[in-house]
Amino acid sequence: MENFSAYNPTRIQFGRDCTNSIGTDAAQIGQKAFIIIGKGSVKKNGILEQVTKHLKTANIAFEIFEGIKSNPEYQDADAAVAQAKQFGAQMIIAVGGGSVIDTAKAVCAGFYSEHSVWEFYSGKGIKPTAALPLLAVLTLAATGTEMNRFTVLQDTVNKHKRGWGNELLYPYISYLDPVYTFSVPAGYTAYGIADLMAHTFELFFGIDASPLSDHLASDIIKLALQYGPTAIANPNNYEARANLLWLSTVALNGTLNAGKRNGDFGVHAYEHVLSVLFDIPHGAGLSIIYPAWMKHFYGQIEAKMDFMAERTLGPGMNGKDFIDALEAFYGAIGTPKRLVEWGIGTDQHALIVQTLVDNKVRGSYFDMQKADYEAILKLMA
Ligand code: NZQ
Ligand code: ZN
Repeated sequence: MENFSAYNPTRIQFGRDCTNSIGTDAAQIGQKAFIIIGKGSVKKNGILEQVTKHLKTANIAFEIFEGIKSNPEYQDADAAVAQAKQFGAQMIIAVGGGSVIDTAKAVCAGFYSEHSVWEFYSGKGIKPTAALPLLAVLTLAATGTEMNRFTVLQDTVNKHKRGWGNELLYPYISYLDPVYTFSVPAGYTAYGIADLMAHTFELFFGIDASPLSDHLASDIIKLALQYGPTAIANPNNYEARANLLWLSTVALNGTLNAGKRNGDFGVHAYEHVLSVLFDIPHGAGLSIIYPAWMKHFYGQIEAKMDFMAERTLGPGMNGKDFIDALEAFYGAIGTPKRLVEWGIGTDQHALIVQTLVDNKVRGSYFDMQKADYEAILKLMA
């Protein structure tokens, strides 16, 4: 095991009606909340109304910033920062999926700076000095942002999608009500499952030996294989939704990092290029790349793949069986396994490779160069 530091200050309120306390929680912080939402799902399904009802009861004044798109753009975060400053926000409340919460994190930090939030994502080491407290009402099981210090935004014009992390970005409280995820459409439910599985794989393929981490990783995969199809077939199944929600949180809240220096995250870096080029949902991009990546690096990861196969599929199963089962699972839940299923043909390959080169896409342990980008691309064509 490697040395490690474990820290996670986010309070999780989990379960039915857990947002009932948001008004009193907010009142502990201040009297002015700046709410950030996406393209309107939380208006249609009534979640926003429930949140604002509790804020009104607690005499919290609020303003709403609407319109964060999936695969969020830094310009929206900059616009939200300007409005939040004018309003005199004392806290940010994000109501939505990972895109809304990631944007909200940028706004929390941007509130105390005079430059564009994109500077934080630039890789130049620019760090926030302070951040507003964030209350996150999560509506989609996928990213883990509700209990981690990361945020991912993109510069669509210049074709960069980047993440960064800072301890100031942990949400203060995240509210995880499985009922709030009942209305997530089948597609995004499947992409969320692909994303939580991908986080688990990224950490599992961090090569340092950490037995508990690897055992937990295989349990997360096993349970995702079990609960995923149930949630797709019956979107209002509380147990399936609740388990997916908690699996996705634990997959990227630091638990699986313990005893490892890092995860690999090469597949994530590769996927960010697909998202920024084609606006493909993050999880859909991951379900296309992961099987191809596993095939490409198979010679180096065979023992780990066998371990994952034995623990998730049963005794006697091997890594190749696991890849077959994974592709079949993706197909069954309705997330793509090949680029062509998303309408991305071979005529786009040169652009994809060039953008991977421009973004210097690498994994922490499984290095990728141009020849690797191309070989993986062929496997996912
Ligand atoms: O925009 P609205 O109208 O709200 O609709 C959203 C959006 O269309 C909809 N949705 C969300 N909750 C719903 C719902 N529809 C009905 N009922 C509900 N309860 O779902 C669509 C997708 O939402 P989005 O927030 O984009 O999805 P997700 O949670 O998968 O977030 C993806 C983003 O997170 C980043 C990804 O790169 C991507 O930009 N990630 C962030 C990470 C982090 N901060 O740690 C790690 C991840 O690897 C990931 O990179
Ligand atoms: Zn992800």
